[in-house]
Amino acid sequence: MQPITRLAVESMDARDPLGGCRQWFALPPGVIYLDGNSLGALPNTTPARVARVVEDWGRDLIGGWNRHDWIGWPRRVGDRVARLVGAQPGEVIVADSTSVNLFKLLAAALDLTRGRRVILSEADNFPTDLHIAQGLSRLLADTVEVRTVEAAALPAALDGDVAVLMLTHVNYRTGVMHDMAALTAAAHAAGALALWDLSHSAGAMPLALNEAGVDLAVGGGYKFLNGGPGAPAYLFVAKRWHGRIQPALSGWMGHARPFDFATAYEPAAGIERLLVGTPPVLSLAALDAGVEMFDRVDLRLVRAKSIALGGLFRRLVEQECRGPGLRLVSPADPERCGSQVSYAHPDGYAIVQALIDRGVIGDFRAPDVLRFGFAPLYVRHVDVFDAVIALREILATRAYDAPRFRLRALVT
Ligand SMILES: Cc1ncc(COP(=O)(O)O)c(C=O)c1O
Repeated sequence: MQPITRLAVESMDARDPLGGCRQWFALPPGVIYLDGNSLGALPNTTPARVARVVEDWGRDLIGGWNRHDWIGWPRRVGDRVARLVGAQPGEVIVADSTSVNLFKLLAAALDLTRGRRVILSEADNFPTDLHIAQGLSRLLADTVEVRTVEAAALPAALDGDVAVLMLTHVNYRTGVMHDMAALTAAAHAAGALALWDLSHSAGAMPLALNEAGVDLAVGGGYKFLNGGPGAPAYLFVAKRWHGRIQPALSGWMGHARPFDFATAYEPAAGIERLLVGTPPVLSLAALDAGVEMFDRVDLRLVRAKSIALGGLFRRLVEQECRGPGLRLVSPADPERCGSQVSYAHPDGYAIVQALIDRGVIGDFRAPDVLRFGFAPLYVRHVDVFDAVIALREILATRAYDAPRFRLRALVT
């Protein structure tokens, strides 16, 4: 096969139907950002949007809740997210963090499936998903078991004890993507509910929660949705469960009429019952700006570009970074993968630091994984090319041996 040249890669950008989206973001010059799967870039509209809410707050004080309908924003932004995940308006609400939303929905799933006593998940799930399940099990005096198996063993592990199958659609470390429809159907055939964590897929591909028959889902706002550091998360509950789902965190914002100040809890009729406390209005404004951009893009094009960038990265690493060292831990086929590619290397941490030093930002996931994310709205094909050339040089010169690249920061 002919080697891939930078010229050829430039022509891929020239033909990219999403090429114009990059200008919607305030990316710093000289930086190749391959970490939008962890913290999305800053949309140009966000600073003014947040500033406006700050001004509204200063001028209107508490009147802002009604005048600007701040109270309705969790639902309004949730409706925007609903389109991205294949849900109906009114099935998604923005609230809390992904971890807290997992707790809320796992507790509700156990309540909906009384008599069953197992939360089934994957051994390699994101830690917080498993930690939350473990904490819930302890709270319930270990009457509930958290059972984890390897991905391939999931269908066989779906026995009559399983209350809920809890999985992350795209694995944070390897990028491996589950077949959501098939596993949801398998869970249902076993009488269990299906709860999906969409943190690494929403905003990077079209999703079809309702078409797949998914019961419950959660996901974060700060990755591909570009909501900013610590952006609020969202949760999805299929309409068929709305009347029956009982929140364990029964806070006043989930009450049917919060401003009646009734002391007895009565859940709101719809998805609002999954709210707990007062919405974070400034953060919601930033998330709204991030999610709003997707109103203007076709998610099928987003997925096609994600696959193209991931495939290009794999081919270029093979072409430029031969020799022992890097081991692909993501699927070889980008179609089976989310919008990231990961390699293992014993010096993974130091290599990532050396790349960052050259303006190529990826990240490291313990114990030895270098992770490169491709946010299709702003990563170009030439970024992928230039990143791999930088990687080649760092590997060839062992630039990563410098002691300063081995100092571990708190956040990796
Ligand atoms: C798959 C997955 N789930 C959950 C989380 C944690 O989300 P939060 O910090 O909002 O609780 C992350 C964070 O990276 C994640 O990757």
